[in-house]
Amino acid sequence: SIRILRTVSSVHRFRRPLTLDSRSVALVPTMGALHAGHLSLIRAAARDNHHVMVSIYVNPAQFGVREDLGSYPVTWDADCAALAALDRELADDGENLGRISAVFAPTTGEMYPAGFPGQEVDSKGSFVTITPVGEVLEGSSRPTFFRGVATVCMKLFNVCQPDRVYFGQKDVQQTVVIKRLVEDFLMPIEQVVVVPTERDPEGDGLALSSRNVYLGSRRRKVANVLYRALKAAEGAYNAGGEEGTREREGILGAARKVVEETLKEQMKMEPGRRVRFEVDYLSLADPETMLELETVDTKKGGILSGAVRF
Ligand code: PAJ
Repeated sequence: SIRILRTVSSVHRFRRPLTLDSRSVALVPTMGALHAGHLSLIRAAARDNHHVMVSIYVNPAQFGVREDLGSYPVTWDADCAALAALDRELADDGENLGRISAVFAPTTGEMYPAGFPGQEVDSKGSFVTITPVGEVLEGSSRPTFFRGVATVCMKLFNVCQPDRVYFGQKDVQQTVVIKRLVEDFLMPIEQVVVVPTERDPEGDGLALSSRNVYLGSRRRKVANVLYRALKAAEGAYNAGGEEGTREREGILGAARKVVEETLKEQMKMEPGRRVRFEVDYLSLADPETMLELETVDTKKGGILSGAVRF
């Protein structure tokens, strides 16, 4: 059965004997409202580790003061049921090394012993900042976001002492931040594993996200514009194998074209049925720094990402 742990000291009691037995431990950090994307991370973790710990904690430090901390979906009972069902599935599948052993679901008092963390850019307190990767793209419109993510992940890693940690490629900049965190602070973690994005079974390419519930049905239908734009950019890069473009303008131009066509389609609709959206950014970046690239070095590759605001 899956143990529910609420305190740092209960995690330590759970964790210590596993080290003595040389069992590998994976950590999958989440904010709950679990969906198939989270579950694919847990499956990947169970394949390669004896024990999987899942953390469920809505981390206030990564929400801006005007963001959705108060309305972020909390679905604790459904989360527990989904984890129990997945654990039974893991037990039946002989390919796995491990199972879901524990859920760490702490209170904010436990995670932030000095008190509720500041959400302002100039808040005092103990924070981990990773620059420049945490300042660009998502970090430019949400200046405290990656500080909050890096801070809570360092805490979670310190508490759970995982051998491997699992993160989704959907939040690709977050994976780059976490890799820097582990490397730069010499954290005793063997591997930061990045798991491919799980997309809506609807089949139109929209990435699964706990926040998709905010979209509503009309915007939901247009929300895959980001997927289609990124695919077009990837297509320009891959076109004709070696012959594809390596230049920023050619690659991102293909993405912008998809966005513009989609905006035009919406402008043809009656004003009442029109879906409005704007591009926050479309990026072609260095995989290690997330700084923008003019040309892609085929050996190093590049990361295509974007954000569209509805
Ligand atoms: P959360 O949004 O709950 O996501 C938890 C993990 O699931 C992240 O690594 C995220 O990239 C991954 N994930 C979400 N949707 C996915 C999808 N469709 N396919 C694959 N993976 C997906 O990301 C966070 O929480 C927080 O920032 C956290 C790391 C827990 C720190 O608070």
